[in-house]
Amino acid sequence: MTFSVPDLAKRKQQRQPIVMVTAYDYPSARFAEQAGVDVILVGDSAANVVLGLERTTSITMDTMVVLAAAARRGAPRALLAGDLPFMTYQASDADAVRNAGRFVAEAGCDAVKLEGGGAMVRRVKAIGGAGIAVIGHLGLLPQSAARFGGMRVQARTHERAIALLDDALALQDAGAVAIVLEAIPSEIAAAVTERLSVPTVGIGAGSGCDGQVLVFHDVLGLGAGAPPSFVRQYAALGEATRDALAHYAADVRERRFPAEQEGYRISADELAAFEQALAARDASTRAGAPAGRPA
Ligand code: KIV
Repeated sequence: MTFSVPDLAKRKQQRQPIVMVTAYDYPSARFAEQAGVDVILVGDSAANVVLGLERTTSITMDTMVVLAAAARRGAPRALLAGDLPFMTYQASDADAVRNAGRFVAEAGCDAVKLEGGGAMVRRVKAIGGAGIAVIGHLGLLPQSAARFGGMRVQARTHERAIALLDDALALQDAGAVAIVLEAIPSEIAAAVTERLSVPTVGIGAGSGCDGQVLVFHDVLGLGAGAPPSFVRQYAALGEATRDALAHYAADVRERRFPAEQEGYRISADELAAFEQALAARDASTRAGAPAGRPA
């Protein structure tokens, strides 16, 4: 069933959790939709988990649009959100609207996400004014992590927690349709969630949020290195993938793959004719005629 932007608010009113997961290509989005996930986020975490880059700040808008378009083909019914990458919205409202528009026009996204409160609140208003749904993102903001001393838990003092609540209310007033809360104490996330009319979606923010989001590769055990402590890993597909590929490599080396039924056959008549033609050709080559031309 299709999940649309108004369904986000409905879920909050009905106190039914929103299920969000990241996905970055056709097969991952297809699996997510088949599993009944409501919202697929084409996160800029693709920089780390798909492209092997150290920072999310290195991924470009062009790359994100390609990934989002592939995800849309895999998931035609889920709500698809494109994550605006670093410096595609920070400098001006015009940049923000243009790049948000690319996610919608070129990739078929239903919404976009951007990081931050404060000066970013007006970007949310500008994008919303262009008719595009925006999801906010507060707490740990990977795009500006360097400014805050790295990937650290946020809102751990009462002043910072109040500032986060003010940012969340400002994003809501500016028209954000949902707000991702990343790596903040559970009590703070629950208090913010209670005071908002739009849903919150937590990642490392406890069970008091209106929904949860995790990175695809973390859920499935496909990531490089240990996942953050808030991740619950539901499968060990990294190990399974490695084992399967090692098995394939051994079969090729030992000539166990391919078996007869894994190849194509030719009819007996055609094979006999081929062998005759081949014999004639080999004979003429031996007699010195130019290769490829029967004598
Ligand atoms: O890029 C991403 O994957 C995200 C989620 C962690 C919310 O922003």
